[in-house]
Amino acid sequence: MDIETPDVHDAETVDQMFAVLQAAHLVDEPDNPPPCGVAYRVGMRQHPLTEKFERRIIRDDCRVVAVLSLFMPLVDNTAFCDAEVTVHPDYRRRGLGTALLREAEHIGRADGRRSLATGSIGRWEDGPQRSEAGRRFLEAAGYDLVLTEVLRSADIDAVQPAVERELLAQAQAASVDYETIAWTGRTPEEYLAPIAALNSTFLNEAPIGDLDLEPEKIDPDRKRRREELKIERGVFLCGVFARPKGSEEIVATTVIEIHTEPGDVAHQQITLVAPNHRGHRLGMRVKLENHEQLRAARPEVRSIHTGNASVNAAMIAINEQLGFVPVDAWYAYQTDISKTS
Ligand SMILES: CC(C)(COP(=O)(O)OP(=O)(O)OC[C@H]1O[C@@H](n2cnc3c(N)ncnc32)[C@H](O)[C@@H]1OP(=O)(O)O)[C@@H](O)C(=O)NCCC(=O)NCCS
Repeated sequence: MDIETPDVHDAETVDQMFAVLQAAHLVDEPDNPPPCGVAYRVGMRQHPLTEKFERRIIRDDCRVVAVLSLFMPLVDNTAFCDAEVTVHPDYRRRGLGTALLREAEHIGRADGRRSLATGSIGRWEDGPQRSEAGRRFLEAAGYDLVLTEVLRSADIDAVQPAVERELLAQAQAASVDYETIAWTGRTPEEYLAPIAALNSTFLNEAPIGDLDLEPEKIDPDRKRRREELKIERGVFLCGVFARPKGSEEIVATTVIEIHTEPGDVAHQQITLVAPNHRGHRLGMRVKLENHEQLRAARPEVRSIHTGNASVNAAMIAINEQLGFVPVDAWYAYQTDISKTS
């Protein structure tokens, strides 16, 4: 069993790597949106500058049967890395996953990283049955559970229009001193600096359990570059910002992404209200206004998927009012690789 560094410019190898992810998706999380082949193939060839990826594969004969992707931030969180190990369902329980996880630890340690995080889909409460393979595998490898995120989804029309109008009217009434800005595609230039400043606080504000992460320092260039890389990967973005009337400071944001495949599914990204501006229903307002914008801009979208730390009561309360129901959970694990022999 040889571990190989794939040639990311070899389309056949990349196709086979993606096929492993697709096969795993069907077995491990069929109710969640499948991975997007367009984003995967383009992402393989991108050079983000503020982060790097190491990839490894294992083949059986010529066919790729197991894939490692290791994410390593370069600007902040330079002691942290995040691994995804995926083994084709027909090749499990043969030690391939362990071999790739140990390889990730080795690469991370050699790069001076302290913490290696990874994770797995699993069952949430009385939701659909899920394979326990990922969690058992990581526990067997000595990793600690550091965060539980509940994944929820909602049909685009989960809430009756009259109820939604009422929720929006209440939210707008509670936040009359604020104005909102809706945008699609790229963040308009004039909002880049204030939104970068707000985004920089995210890892301080959202519950991240014991993940060994520090807040990112996001400047306008970094924000723009990140967005451009997503757009290159075929991602459609739409968002709503809020700011106090008469102020340039953005104090609330929400963003939704749609991948090329499947094009009828939306992925909720960051929603954040700055601490001094909470309690005015801004979270509800920006989300509802963004849903309205999403329906107009991409009428083919049928559902929205989101994930929140199980302890994030404020965000979960909003999502439940918007018709989101739990599907399953993402269990994040971490280990200290500086201590691994
Ligand atoms: C999790 C995953 C990577 C494991 O790959 P694998 O090659 O089957 O793992 P290994 O053969 O190295 O298993 C090592 C140990 O993990 C545990 N384990 C793995 N799968 C298990 C399962 N289905 N049930 C219980 N324990 C399991 C066992 O202790 C196993 O040792 P054993 O076979 O001697 O009992 C694979 O199931 C997978 O791709 N799942 C989807 C992606 C995922 O969840 N990845 C998690 C890490 S990023």
